[in-house]
Formats: sequence, structure tokens, C-alpha cells
Amino acid sequence: MTYPDIFISLQLLILSCILSFTVAQNPVDAYAPTVNENCPETPNSLVRTFTSQTQVLNTSETEYIASRESYVISNAWSNWLGNASDIGYNFDNFEGKFPRIGIAIGGEGYRTAQYGAAVLSGLDWRNSTARAEGTGGLLQVASYLSASSGGSWLLGSLLLNDWPSITELVYGNGGNLSSWMLDLDLIVPSSPSINNGNNQEYWGSILASVESKANNGFPTSVTDLWGRMVSYHFLNETTRANFYTNQTSHGAGQLWSQTSLLPSFQNHTIPFPIVTADSREAGSGITTTVPLNSTVYEITPFEFGSWDPGLGAMSPLKFTGTHLTNGLPDNPSACVTGFDQASFVMGASSSFFNVVLNATDGNFGFDTSNGDEDGMNFVFNQLLSHTPSNTMNAANWPNPFKGVNPVTFQDSSADQLELLDGGANLEKTPLSSLLVKARGLDVVVVVDGSADDQNYWPNGSSLLTTFERISSVLSSSHQPMPPIPGTAALFVSTGVNMRPTFFGCNLTQGQPAYPIIIYLPNAPPLDGSAPATNTGDTQFSYTSLFMAVFINQAFGNTLGGFKPNTNSPDPDWGQCLQCAAIDRAVTLRSDFCSQCFAQYCYNPNNLTSNSELPNRQYQFADPDPGGLQKVEEWLEDNKGALAGFVVAIIVAIAGIVGFIFWWRKRRARRSRYSRVDELRDDDEPWRYYDTRSLELTRRMSIT
Ligand SMILES: *[C@@H]1O[C@H](CO)[C@@H](O)[C@H](O)[C@H]1NC(C)=O
Ligand SMILES: *[C@@H]1O[C@H](CO)[C@@H](O)[C@H](O)[C@H]1NC(C)=O
Ligand SMILES: *[C@@H]1O[C@H](CO)[C@@H](O)[C@H](O)[C@H]1NC(C)=O
Ligand SMILES: *[C@@H]1O[C@H](CO)[C@@H](O)[C@H](O)[C@H]1NC(C)=O
Ligand SMILES: *[C@@H]1O[C@H](CO)[C@@H](O)[C@H](O)[C@H]1NC(C)=O
Ligand SMILES: *[C@@H]1O[C@H](CO)[C@@H](O)[C@H](O)[C@H]1NC(C)=O
Ligand SMILES: *[C@@H]1O[C@H](CO)[C@@H](O)[C@H](O)[C@H]1NC(C)=O
Ligand SMILES: *[C@@H]1O[C@H](CO)[C@@H](O)[C@H](O)[C@H]1NC(C)=O
Ligand SMILES: *[C@@H]1O[C@H](CO)[C@@H](O)[C@H](O)[C@H]1NC(C)=O
Ligand SMILES: *[C@@H]1O[C@H](CO)[C@@H](O)[C@H](O)[C@H]1NC(C)=O
Ligand SMILES: *[C@@H]1O[C@H](CO)[C@@H](O)[C@H](O)[C@H]1NC(C)=O
Ligand SMILES: *[C@@H]1O[C@H](CO)[C@@H](O)[C@H](O)[C@H]1NC(C)=O
Repeated sequence: MTYPDIFISLQLLILSCILSFTVAQNPVDAYAPTVNENCPETPNSLVRTFTSQTQVLNTSETEYIASRESYVISNAWSNWLGNASDIGYNFDNFEGKFPRIGIAIGGEGYRTAQYGAAVLSGLDWRNSTARAEGTGGLLQVASYLSASSGGSWLLGSLLLNDWPSITELVYGNGGNLSSWMLDLDLIVPSSPSINNGNNQEYWGSILASVESKANNGFPTSVTDLWGRMVSYHFLNETTRANFYTNQTSHGAGQLWSQTSLLPSFQNHTIPFPIVTADSREAGSGITTTVPLNSTVYEITPFEFGSWDPGLGAMSPLKFTGTHLTNGLPDNPSACVTGFDQASFVMGASSSFFNVVLNATDGNFGFDTSNGDEDGMNFVFNQLLSHTPSNTMNAANWPNPFKGVNPVTFQDSSADQLELLDGGANLEKTPLSSLLVKARGLDVVVVVDGSADDQNYWPNGSSLLTTFERISSVLSSSHQPMPPIPGTAALFVSTGVNMRPTFFGCNLTQGQPAYPIIIYLPNAPPLDGSAPATNTGDTQFSYTSLFMAVFINQAFGNTLGGFKPNTNSPDPDWGQCLQCAAIDRAVTLRSDFCSQCFAQYCYNPNNLTSNSELPNRQYQFADPDPGGLQKVEEWLEDNKGALAGFVVAIIVAIAGIVGFIFWWRKRRARRSRYSRVDELRDDDEPWRYYDTRSLELTRRMSIT
């Protein structure tokens, strides 16, 4: 070794020491945005504005859609429809021109993440069961996928894990996908007790993350805590083994703007992803439903902004968090990056705290029996004690649009935007991003898992709200909605809220075009069995068995369609779905598709009735009463030890049984007056252990 070599080695050694110092920082601090970055060298504004007439898509989005449609989607159509003879068409006649399709997945909570996952797997070509039914394939021909609230958790999970199969994503794959772990409660994962050591470590990590952001000068709120909790389940750096540690960053540092670098995005495998969030006028303190003219935002991998005519502006997502005035940074060398944390995007889209958090008594109204309310209170009060003056019940988002459209934009003079749950205006399914005129969609699939009626089933309220918002606020910037029932009562009496329905099958002559809506509402199993998918918004844990029953039911409905007056699946449903998807590219509807449309299209002049859905059960039935959640957790944590445990039990039982035998014989020999009852009582414990260990074994094979 020459001297210079040694010198270099020394330098490397010193460098690696310095690096390991940096690495030794708490990984969860990766949640902190970076400040004082150089701003991009654009001579003009970092914000682009447009009117309804000058509306254009971001160039990168346009390129993405063009590539996906020409190189990926045209093959996917051919896979899905074959030569199209099954539905009465000749595939070649489409000449490569296909309708543009988007899928909207609504919220709220774990219910809708699971409902969305089940529906998407039913539409996924990669799922062989769905493919065989003819429904699997629609996901692959979709150009867009929008999601809000609980739906955004599903989308974030798919996206940031590079678009694995939904089954592997949800249940885990024994490799780098460790399942959603919904059995570990979102708020109190370890035990209902707030003094539980693991809970305390978990909250410590979450608070450390959020405080690292606050320390860099950003106002934080309960939304930040919430988004960090969500990340433990939906992002990829948390396993059962590291759940209560700071060994990984638990998804902190994963940025929404970086999703465009993932292989599945780079090769255009996935629909263009959009997340939506509502807002309330800054400082208004609204704790109820927000008005329909309150700005609705969207987040794509490229931009953050709104198509609402009142704002009509977009800013680069990568630099979001930077405070801009009239599109210019206050200081060109003080831009912010790393604000667009996937945790925070999913948190903002599901930030329903303006309605649930009572500012007077600090209660959330969560379940008090399982520790959720106490746990949330505990961690919230910890945050509050550090940052008492922030707006706590919304997502605080530095306003990139200060000074823009002072007359029509509600927050033109605000420093912080106050973002809320995508359903805060009661528009639970994020439809309006897909109706933006410049996006030019022909078909929109609406995945509606809203809990509207007393049994937590949708009753069309979300579509009705979109209809009203489109006609009152967005008529210049967005496509119109097709005709739908005019009231929730009519949705219910026609039964279209309880089965797949197509809206807008025929265009009205002389009227502006609207897309076909394929409506897939959460509904009871069509075979009449007891439903498990109508759970509450604030159910923050599901046992593995519960989740499997839930997903299988919703998957079954997605594949089953609707056959009037029966409890049987419709064998033609998959092909009928293909008819609806391709219809806008068809010149003359085939006989087969016309029959499908007679069955599935909503016709305002010939109403259907909910009596065509016989023997449905509407009331929720717990598929896993008792839950045995803690047993499951323990099992997962102790899988290795368990084998030994079972052997030990068997040995112990054998020993004890042997002893009893010996003892009984001995007693029988010793005394003729031994009481048989007593012996029977003595038998009970062994029988108990026996069934118990059977139950444990059964559960092991489920998980
Ligand atoms: C379409 O494909 C099916 C089988 O996939 C085949 O039986 C049928 O002959 C084909 N029809 C035409 C018109 O090519
Ligand atoms: C299809 O999806 C369902 C629901 O997610 C799942 O249970 C099933 O295992 C999947 N089938 C295949 C073959 O992947
Ligand atoms: C987690 O996902 C990110 C991107 O979404 C990826 O870069 C990273 O390698 C993944 N980590 C693990 C442990 O799988
Ligand atoms: C997960 O693991 C598989 C196989 O080891 C690998 O191909 C894939 O890139 C990994 N995904 C992520 C997101 O790290
Ligand atoms: C993670 O770090 C934070 C801050 O240092 C600490 O409060 C918390 O208890 C740590 N969690 C674990 C599991 O060690
Ligand atoms: C695109 O990327 C995804 C995810 O990495 C991969 O599964 C898929 O095979 C790729 N597709 C093509 C056409 O390369
Ligand atoms: C599109 O998005 C990129 C990335 O955020 C941004 O740099 C660019 O300015 C945007 N504008 C247009 C007009 O495409
Ligand atoms: C908020 O808490 C206060 C004090 O407990 C109570 O009087 C009030 O009714 C609560 N508000 C709501 C909307 O529940
Ligand atoms: C929204 O509508 C309300 C009336 O419902 C009106 O007072 C308010 O000014 C409107 N806000 C904007 C930004 O147009
Ligand atoms: C429909 O749901 C909404 C809540 O989203 C509720 O206020 C309304 O009473 C319901 N109407 C019917 C007819 O079920
Ligand atoms: C659509 O048009 C077809 C053919 O004109 C007609 O038979 C059908 O009833 C119409 N359907 C609806 C929903 O208006
Ligand atoms: C109305 O719809 C029913 C099926 O729901 C159909 O049998 C009937 O022919 C339709 N009537 C008219 C006038 O289109």
C-alpha cells in the first residue's frame, strides 16, 4: 500500500464515521421536510394558472397517458376482449381506438380500503378467478385511478409498493410485503391500555417523526400523527417484528413525487394515480360538512392544485411546502422539498378531524371500550403540549397559491391551506378529478363504500353530491354527470344502490356528452348470506379472519353482478361489464350488449325496483365474534416458540392423563366409594386444553 492509498483509506474511514453519525439519527425523522433547497431555475412563476377555457394537463401527465394508451392499454384490451366475438363485436373494427377509463375509489376508513382492494382484485387481469369471469381486465385498461380517504390508503399502498398483486399486498407474501396487519389496532396496536410499553414506544416513534417536521418550522396537527399511523400498515417498512422499534423509518421519507420513478410507473403499467382532499376556508374553523364551493384539491405524482374554476392552478408537487406569493418563492434559495410525504398525503386525504375532534373537550368520539379514544387522546395531548397554537383539526399545507385569483379563490390571502378528508363535502367518491374536461374520460367506474344508511350501506348520497357540485360549481370546467336518480330515496327504491348499475348508457342528442358511470356500491352478498362489509368508519382493527371474510364477500359481489329476482350470480356479468367499458367506441350496439344494457342501465323512464333483490340480509353480522385478536398477535410474534409450546402441551397432557389413569386406578383400588362426578370434573381441564390447542392450530393455518 502506498502512502496516498493509506491517506485515501483514512479519509474514507473518517467519512464513514461521519456518515454513520448521520445514519445514527432516528430513522423516523425522515418525515421532516428539507428547507433551504435551491428553487428550480424557472424565470417565471412556480405556479401555472388556467381558466376553464385554457385548462391543460401537465405535460408529464399528457405524456404518461399517451404512452400508456398506445403501448400498454391497447394490448390489455386485446387480452381482455379477445376478438370480441363473445360480446357481438369484431375487435379489429375498433381500429385501436378505445374509450378512456378512470376508476374512483371512495372513503372512509379501513372499510373502504378493504372494499376498494376487493373490487380492484375483481377487476384485475392478474387474478385468474376474476379473469375467468370476464371482470378481470378492466383495471388494466384504465388510464386513471383516483382515490380519497380510506381509498387513498389502498392507492398509496399499491403505488409505493410498486403495484404488487392485491392478494400479496393485503395478506403479505412472506417476503418484503408484510400484509396490512389490520389486526394491530391503528391507534392502540399492542393492547387497549395506554400504559402498555409497546403502545408507548409506538407513540414515541410517531411523535418523534412529527416533531422532526415541527422542528423544521412547519405547523403540524393531528393529521400528521394520523398519517404516520396509517403508514405503519400501508407502506412497506413495517413488519410485526419491527413494529415497536425505531429500526426503520416506517415509511417516513417516502415521497409522493418520487412515485413517478418506480418501475411500474416508468413502464406505464399502472393507471395515472390521483388523490383528492377537500379544504375549508382558512380560519373558518368549520366543524361540519364544508360547502360545495369550498376548494377541492388533487395530488398527482407531478402536481398539487385544483381544477375548480375559483382557483384553477397547479404547482409542482416536489416543491410543495414552499411558501409562494404570486407563484414566486419568498427566497429563491429557500425552497422546501420532502413535504409531500406519502404519510401526509394519505393523512390529509383522510383528515376527518374537523368533524370528529371536539375542540371544547378534546374528545374524538372513538371507541372507548378498546382503548382507541384514550390512546388518541394521549398521543394528541402530547403533540398539543409542544405546539399549542397550531390549527389542530386539519392538514396544514403551506399555501402555494397566495395572491392567485383574489376575487374567486377563498384562500388567496391565506398563509396555510387547511386540507380535509376527501369526503368532507359529502362527496365520498373522488369523481370530479375524473370529470375534468381536459382529461376527456369516456367511462368512470365508481367504487362506493360509503356508510350512508342506518346499516352503513351507500344510498347514492355521494353521487348526488357530485351531481350537485358539478352543476352548481364546476359546470364550466368539468363534464356533466349523466342522469342518476334525483334523491337518495329513489336510489333506494329502485335498488340501484345495492347492485352494479350503469348510468348514462345513451347520450342525449343535442346535449353535451357525459361519461358512462359504472357504479359498484358496497352491498350485501347476493346469495343472501349475512354481510360483513358494512362496518363503521371508526373500526380501527380487523382480525385476519374478519378481513378474509370481508374481502371474499366484496370480491364475490364484484364477480357476481346482478340477476333480477334471484340469489344467483349473473353468468353474463363479466361480458356485460366489457360491453359498458367499450360502448363509447361502438357505432352499433350488439344484440348481446343491448340485452346487458336493458338489465344494467338506469333508465329514468322505466324504473326498476328494489324488490328485484330478494332475500338480501342488510344487518351486519360479525364474522369473527370474540375476535381472539390478542391470541393472534401473540401467535404471530411467537410462531417459532409455538411448535415447542404445542409439543410441551401434548407431553403435559399425556403426562397428566397418564397420571390420572394411574391415580384413578389407585383410588379405585384404594376405595370403593370414589365419586365418579368428581372424576368427571377433573376431566374438564384436559378437554379445555385440547380444544384450545385445536383452535390455536386452526388459526395458525388461517394466518
Ligand atoms: C373469436 O375467438 C373464438 C375463440 O377465442 C373463436 O372460436 C372464434 O372463431 C373467433 N371469431 C372470429 C370471428 O375470429
Ligand atoms: C383473487 O382475488 C381474491 C380476492 O382478493 C383472492 O382471494 C384470490 O386468492 C385471488 N385469486 C388469485 C388466483 O390470485
Ligand atoms: C419500500 O418501497 C420503496 C419505494 O416505494 C422502495 O424504494 C424501498 O426499497 C422499499 N423498501 C423495502 C424494505 O421493501
Ligand atoms: C420485493 O422483493 C422482490 C423479490 O425479492 C423484489 O423483486 C422487489 O423489487 C421488492 N420490492 C420492493 C418494493 O422492494
Ligand atoms: C423512537 O424514538 C423516539 C424519540 O427518540 C422515542 O421517544 C421512542 O420511544 C422510540 N421508540 C422506540 C420503539 O424505541
Ligand atoms: C413494469 O414494471 C412492473 C413492476 O416492476 C413489472 O411487474 C412489469 O413486468 C413491468 N412491465 C413491463 C412491460 O416491463
Ligand atoms: C408539470 O409538472 C412538472 C413536475 O412537477 C413541473 O416541473 C412542470 O412545471 C409542470 N408544468 C407543465 C406545464 O407541464
Ligand atoms: C363538545 O364537548 C362539550 C363539552 O363536553 C359538549 O358540551 C359539546 O356538546 C360537545 N360538542 C359536540 C359537537 O359534541
Ligand atoms: C361559497 O358560497 C357561499 C354561499 O353558500 C358564499 O357565501 C361564499 O362567498 C362562496 N365562496 C366562494 C369562495 O365563492
Ligand atoms: C342517505 O344517506 C344520508 C347520509 O349520507 C342520510 O342523511 C340520508 O338520510 C339517507 N337517506 C336515505 C333515504 O336513506
Ligand atoms: C338507449 O337506447 C336504446 C336504443 O335506442 C333503447 O332501447 C334504450 O331503452 C335506451 N336506454 C336508456 C337507458 O335510455
Ligand atoms: C322496462 O324494464 C323492464 C325490465 O326491467 C323490461 O322488461 C320492460 O320491457 C321495460 N319496458 C319498457 C317500456 O322499456
